[in-house]
Amino acid sequence: MKKIVVAIDGHSSCGKSTMAKSLASYAGYKYVDTGAMYRAVALAATRAGLLDTQEIDLPKLRDLLPTLDIDFIVTPQGQHTTLNAEDVESQIRTLQIGSAASRVSAIPFVREQLVSLQQAMGRAKGIVMDGRDIGTVVFPDAELKVFVTASPQVRAQRRYDELQAKGTPMPYDDVLRDVLDRDYRDTHRDISPLRQASDALLLDNSNLTREQQSSLLQSWFDAKIR
Ligand code: DC
Repeated sequence: MKKIVVAIDGHSSCGKSTMAKSLASYAGYKYVDTGAMYRAVALAATRAGLLDTQEIDLPKLRDLLPTLDIDFIVTPQGQHTTLNAEDVESQIRTLQIGSAASRVSAIPFVREQLVSLQQAMGRAKGIVMDGRDIGTVVFPDAELKVFVTASPQVRAQRRYDELQAKGTPMPYDDVLRDVLDRDYRDTHRDISPLRQASDALLLDNSNLTREQQSSLLQSWFDAKIR
């Protein structure tokens, strides 16, 4: 059967990763979470003390990058991100590393390096990749492109519930502000701002269950591999 590249982009906290993972398992494809790759760089830069001040030490970050081997492994708990063979999955999922990732992802040479790594990962096709610039920059020729969104209020409520479940609650208004700030930063940065590719299918999941969203995505996928 024909193998394709599936590019899934969209706003933060709209359930992209859950969707992308479920499609990858349906299709028997590899799944790549590119946000995790920016988070791994952010973790390494934080550990090296390069993000301690307002100004990032760019020459040191440039030297650090080629020493980082970012990859994914399958564990009984699901796919985890590795940094130089260390499982860093739980460490990259904190709010602190999320905002550090937002800072490093705005640096052109960081993006260049990660984009070329992502392109190499998808060369053999049979891959579902999610992020912000997959359909626009990483794989502009992807056979299936999906742009996922939901209203900021729905996304804030989902994040609020997640934080509560993790035992790290935050007031709803702060979570909503964070969602709106991230949207603004992601869509207004100079390099590879988040936008819907002209040939991407829009999936607004504000009023969809997980099952409804998965079956919609699977039907789009099935139509493409026919
Ligand atoms: O999806 P996420 O929250 O794990 O992403 C972390 C940060 O990385 C977020 O600020 C957006 C950025 N990012 C990006 O700029 N390009 C991507 N392809 C993926 C994530």
